[in-house]
Amino acid sequence: MLYKNLFYQVLFFFLFLGVASCSKDVVQNPEKLTISEGFKNPIGFYNPNPTFTWELPVSETIKSQTAYQIVAASSKDMLPNNPDLWDSEKQESTQSTFVNYQGKKLESRQNVFWQVRYWNQEGIASEWSDINTFELGLLKNSDWQAKWTGLDTAKDSIKGVRNFLMHRPQYLRKGFELPLDVESARLYFTAKGVFDVHLNGKDVSDDVLPPGWTPYNKRIETLSYDVGEFLTSGDNIIGVELASGWHSGRISRGQALYENFASPKILCQLEVTLKNGTKTTIVSDQSWKGTTNGPIRLASLYDGEVYDANLEMPNWATTNFDDTSWKTAETEAVVDSVKLEPKRHATVKTTKILEDVAIVSSTKESVIFNMKQNMLGVPKVNVPMKKGDTLTIRFSEMLLADGTFYTDNYRSAKSTDYYIAATDGVIEYTPKFTFHGYQYVELSGYDASVEPNASWIKGLVQHSNFSENGSFTSSHDKLNQLQSNITWGLRDNLLDIPTDCPQRDERLGWTGDAQVISPTAMFNFNTHALWTAWLQSMRETQTEHDDGLIPFIIPDVLQRNNASSGWGDACVIIPWDIYNITGDKTVLEENFEMGKKWVGYYQSKAKDFIPDTHSFADWLQPYPEKDGKMGNRGDTPRLFVNTAYFAHSAHLVSKIAGVLGKTEDEKKYKALYNDIAAAFESKFFDEEGKFISKKQTQTSYLLAIYFDLLKPETKVKAQKHLLEEIKNADYHLGTGFLGTPILPKVLDDMGEIDLMYKILFKETYPSWFYSINQGATTMWERWNSYSKEGGYNPQSMNSLNHYAYGAVGQWMYERIAGLAALEPGYKKIRIAPMPNTQFLTSASASVNTSYGEASASWNIENDVFNLETVIPPNTTAEVIIPYGTIDNLSVNGSDFKENANLKLENSEGTLIKITANPGTYQFRSKL
Ligand code: BGC
Repeated sequence: MLYKNLFYQVLFFFLFLGVASCSKDVVQNPEKLTISEGFKNPIGFYNPNPTFTWELPVSETIKSQTAYQIVAASSKDMLPNNPDLWDSEKQESTQSTFVNYQGKKLESRQNVFWQVRYWNQEGIASEWSDINTFELGLLKNSDWQAKWTGLDTAKDSIKGVRNFLMHRPQYLRKGFELPLDVESARLYFTAKGVFDVHLNGKDVSDDVLPPGWTPYNKRIETLSYDVGEFLTSGDNIIGVELASGWHSGRISRGQALYENFASPKILCQLEVTLKNGTKTTIVSDQSWKGTTNGPIRLASLYDGEVYDANLEMPNWATTNFDDTSWKTAETEAVVDSVKLEPKRHATVKTTKILEDVAIVSSTKESVIFNMKQNMLGVPKVNVPMKKGDTLTIRFSEMLLADGTFYTDNYRSAKSTDYYIAATDGVIEYTPKFTFHGYQYVELSGYDASVEPNASWIKGLVQHSNFSENGSFTSSHDKLNQLQSNITWGLRDNLLDIPTDCPQRDERLGWTGDAQVISPTAMFNFNTHALWTAWLQSMRETQTEHDDGLIPFIIPDVLQRNNASSGWGDACVIIPWDIYNITGDKTVLEENFEMGKKWVGYYQSKAKDFIPDTHSFADWLQPYPEKDGKMGNRGDTPRLFVNTAYFAHSAHLVSKIAGVLGKTEDEKKYKALYNDIAAAFESKFFDEEGKFISKKQTQTSYLLAIYFDLLKPETKVKAQKHLLEEIKNADYHLGTGFLGTPILPKVLDDMGEIDLMYKILFKETYPSWFYSINQGATTMWERWNSYSKEGGYNPQSMNSLNHYAYGAVGQWMYERIAGLAALEPGYKKIRIAPMPNTQFLTSASASVNTSYGEASASWNIENDVFNLETVIPPNTTAEVIIPYGTIDNLSVNGSDFKENANLKLENSEGTLIKITANPGTYQFRSKL
């Protein structure tokens, strides 16, 4: 018996050894496979030349990649050994992000299956990844047999706000028969306008205001839906609700742009594969019927929606409905001048529902609700009504001293919804073809005999359907409220495009605001695809201007044929920021020519390197010399700002050329930058590094220093003048849209971090905490939009939801928490928190990089500095410990020197610099 036991023990021991050794040798497969800007197994995909990204699994044994192999095939069974589309074969490379596809040409509708494996730091091959897929959409106009279809609603349009003609929303319908059961089906759909499409009475998707907003005279995005489950053999119905949206509705204060306010139309192509493999296609054409006598009577993005329940048409989108009284739809052909391309970023969705609502006040006629958060979206109301009564739903961001609505800042946007009841009883209503920016909602016209209840209303928060990407928190409530106001400001201004504000008669793609906020947006939300899609709209709009002009807003519904320095530069600054944050070179390749043309625009306007273009300059700088509207551009001169950005954009074009290997351009634009910088210094600064102007501004020094436009000796002097200016402002910021985002970076580079903390933690005007002290739940357009004692800023341009000043977020994540990308895409990460114990005892940030999650979290307790950090695989990090010495520094509870994954670089003064391999580390050092 003894020997028998011994035999089994020895047998198990060797078995264990074997499994351990082979499991140690089994390198786990790559994970989180995505294509291009982070798409996972998409259908209707826009790009036949995608890039591929994967993550190495987080484990003790896997540190980095030495090679990879990607295979792609048109059917699952061919993988991994018989790929017919592409086999990269083994590539000696550490690259695991944005690897270009180099296989066979891919076509519309093509379904591609792909897999990847990598070799780890010891050159051992991993398992193959799970099989991922992508299915291309209809890539070319010629793929469409359908016709633009709809009713001519222009002839019975209604005079709206500012006599702007309003189209009546349409209801369109088409019956079709399918001889057999359905194997699979794709609905390719878009509209000139916004739509909601139903099949056999069921809503095909929960998209909000699809297809979204592009320069419709250049490109209209198309959507693809997997609708097999919605169809049945026999009779089927497709029904569509259609409204004006951005295409045919009032947008911007000017005239309608697209096709001169033409009637909204749909483009529909339903491609069905039946069980026997035969295919049939149903398209939008003159066989469709339509009516404008449906319940949605009016719908405008700015002005709201009118819904008359008495006109509801039960079952209108099912086979059980008689549409003989409906009109025959009109059609027009698809034209080549307007490209039809699959949408290249997420549609808008309802991403959150706010239910924690409070009743603020109520009278016999009306009741006011507080959503407790300034939001963008629509209300969902459940309200008791009397038949024939009209429920009026009004919106406001904040209240006047007397508790009534402050809506002057909505300007001409009526932003009011109406619901006309068809029965007595509780009604449920959610506006569909409009959106509002608001924190407060007022209801009136409900059954006044019923006591109002907070449950009567919910807030549907709507924005492009991007996922959360990063987080930041700290030991300071107001700093955390600032982070909340930043993230809500982003949620409320990324509805298909980046907008300036969600509430008034703008809500436009202002380029200046976008360029300052994009890094903070990318940290908090996975907005990579949203930005690259918007940049495509920017490129298309630039083609309308031979001189390379980039208009103020994209899509350009203002048509001012004018540009502004600091705004147009978004065409260079955003691609550069997106590249550095993601490591995706595609954004540089796609936008390089646009950047060169923009610099060319400056050159065409420049005399001696000083461009005489328009500029909004340091927009909304506090304490401007001139009052009122005239003061909105601040005191940093137009020509100064023009020249600074001309130089900066030329410099970035040179750097981008360098990354793309375009050495000629790299040299050429570097030389141009040097020439402009020299002209800039001699025109605007004296020998003492002083800005030559009666009115000194912080921003003049910030731009000159941050854009590196001064000779080193002048720069040092200019830095002193900047500190003087800040001192003269009692250590408050004095910057507008352009100076604010670079203030923390310049002071940080100057080692003036404690001064930046002082400015950031100021409570009085102008400061970030001032608006919080006045009750802000989002970022304000102005530093002084409102105060409890003084009320609202008298200018009607006074949005309480502008994200530009939220650009400080980037510095909070990179220097307060200490998490930053040192190389593009976080291939090398910098963990370097710079705490200030006067204000904080802890701060944390985490972000999803293309390699996996990275994080930095520190706290100080009992004179001990604790730093926990996570470094994802296939990256390295530079960790800088701000306290203690190498002798009292421990890691994961043991002496730092024993940790093989850490290498001391240097320990000058108080900073200990370490290079770290992937892993999780708890550093501890004494203050
Ligand atoms: C917009 C801002 C924009 C500014 C430029 C304002 O009306 O709301 O977002 O940057 O104009 O002048």
